[in-house]
Amino acid sequence: MSDLFLLAHEAMGHPSVARCDDCGHQLDAHDAAASCPACGGLLAIVHRAPVDALGAPLNGTALRSSFAQHCCARPVGHPSGVWRFESLVMPGAGASIVSHPEGNTPLLARARIAAYTGCDGLLIKHEGYNPTGSFKDRGMTVGTTQAARIGASAVACASTGNTSASLAAYAAQAGLPGMVFVPEGKVALGKMAQTLAYGATTLLVRGDFDTCLALVQEASRQLGIYLLNSINPWRVEGQKTIVFELLQQLNWEVPEFIVLPAGNLGNTAAFGKALREALALGLIARMPRLVSVQAAGAAPFARAFREGFAQRHRVQAETIATAIRIGDPASWNRAVRAIQETDGLVLSVTDEEIIEAKMVIDAAGVGCEAASAASVAGVRHLVRDGVIRPGDRVVAITTGHVLKDPGMLVSLHQERDDVPGANRPVSIDPTIDAVAAVLAHRMEAR
Ligand code: F0G
Repeated sequence: MSDLFLLAHEAMGHPSVARCDDCGHQLDAHDAAASCPACGGLLAIVHRAPVDALGAPLNGTALRSSFAQHCCARPVGHPSGVWRFESLVMPGAGASIVSHPEGNTPLLARARIAAYTGCDGLLIKHEGYNPTGSFKDRGMTVGTTQAARIGASAVACASTGNTSASLAAYAAQAGLPGMVFVPEGKVALGKMAQTLAYGATTLLVRGDFDTCLALVQEASRQLGIYLLNSINPWRVEGQKTIVFELLQQLNWEVPEFIVLPAGNLGNTAAFGKALREALALGLIARMPRLVSVQAAGAAPFARAFREGFAQRHRVQAETIATAIRIGDPASWNRAVRAIQETDGLVLSVTDEEIIEAKMVIDAAGVGCEAASAASVAGVRHLVRDGVIRPGDRVVAITTGHVLKDPGMLVSLHQERDDVPGANRPVSIDPTIDAVAAVLAHRMEAR
C-alpha cells in the first residue's frame, strides 16, 4: 500500500505529495512543476490514507458511508460529485475550491442502446451532463483549485476542444487569465464557441493536437503559465471521481467491464489509479476490466495492446471523432499499467462504427458527441467477439454532450445523403393540410 498512500511518518503534516512515476523524486503538493524537474517524468499525487476525526484509518464500509454523508442531498453534503470524494482527490482543499459544481452525472439504462450492443446489462455513465458538457470539468475543478491555491498567474492547455472549453469556464470563475492551444480547423463548433464565450485567449495553431501539446509544455516551462492538461497530476485526481461515483451509484458492486473512449489516455490512466486506490482501501472487492476504445485512424495504443505492449507507437491521427484525434498519447505508461492491472482490453472502432453508434444513442434521446460513441461501439464489438456476455454488467462512459458538435449533426441529418436514419427537416407551407400530410406520412413509416 505504501506506493499508493503516504504513511503517517512520510506525510510530515502534509496531506499529499507529487511523486515522479519514473524516478520517485518527490515534490511538495504546492509545487507548480508540470513534470519531474529531475528526470522529466510524469508526476502523480500520493495522498495520506484517509482517516476519521480521531485520526483512525478509514476504509471499506466507514469510507463508503463518509462519501454517502457528503452526498449533495445531505445537510453536510457537497453539491459537487468531485468534492464529495475530497479525501481521495485533494484533502484539505477547503476554502480554495473552485467548483461550478460538477459531476453527479447519471447512470442511464436505455433498452434501445442496450439492444444495439447486445448487452442487456449496459448502463451509460453520461459525462455530457457536466457544466461545460464533458468529463473534463471533473479534472478542471481540481486543476484550477490547485492553480488558485499556488497563486498561478495564468493557466493554459492544449486541446482538441473539450479541455479548452472547460479550462475557459473554470479560469473565468477563478478570475485567472486562460490561454488555449487548439489545432486550427479541427475543433468542433460547440467547443470553440464555448471557449470564446468564456473568455480564454484562443490560439489556433497550424498543426495537430500533438503539436499543440508540445508547444504549450514549452510555453509553460519558459513563460511560467500553469499547465492544465491531463498530464497535470491534479487533473488526474479529479477524473478519478468518474469511477468513484459510478461505483457508489452501483452500491460498490463492481461491474464486469468499464468501457471508455481513449485519446491522450489521461482518463484511462485516471481510471486505473482510481480502481487501484479503491481496491487498496477496501471500497471494492475486485477489479472490473477496463476497456479503452480508440478510433481506428488514431489507434497507436490499440496497436500496442495487440503486440503485448512491446513498444510505444505514434501515428499521424485522422478520425471524424475530432476529440480523440491524437497520435502520440501523453499518459502512455500509466494507461498500460491501468490495462494490465485490470486484465483490460484496448480496441479500435472505425469511423463508420462510431457514427452508427452515435446515431443510436442520439435517436434514443440521450445524445452524445462522436468520440463518446466509441465506447458503445466498443461494447457492441466485444459482444460480437464473445468477450462481453449479454448478461454482464457493463458501464460505458459517454464523455461529451450531443451539442458539442452541431456541425456534424447538420452534416449527418441535412447534408449527406448516405446516412441511414438521417432525420431530414421538412419545409412546409403554413397550412394545417401540410401538417396533416406530413403526419400521415410519418405514421405510415412507423
Ligand atoms: N472523449 C472526449 C469527448 C474527449 O474530449 C476526449 C479527450 C476523450 C474522450 C479522450 O480522453 O484524452 O483522456 O484519453 N479530449 C481532450 C481534449 C484531448 O483536449 O479535450 P483522453
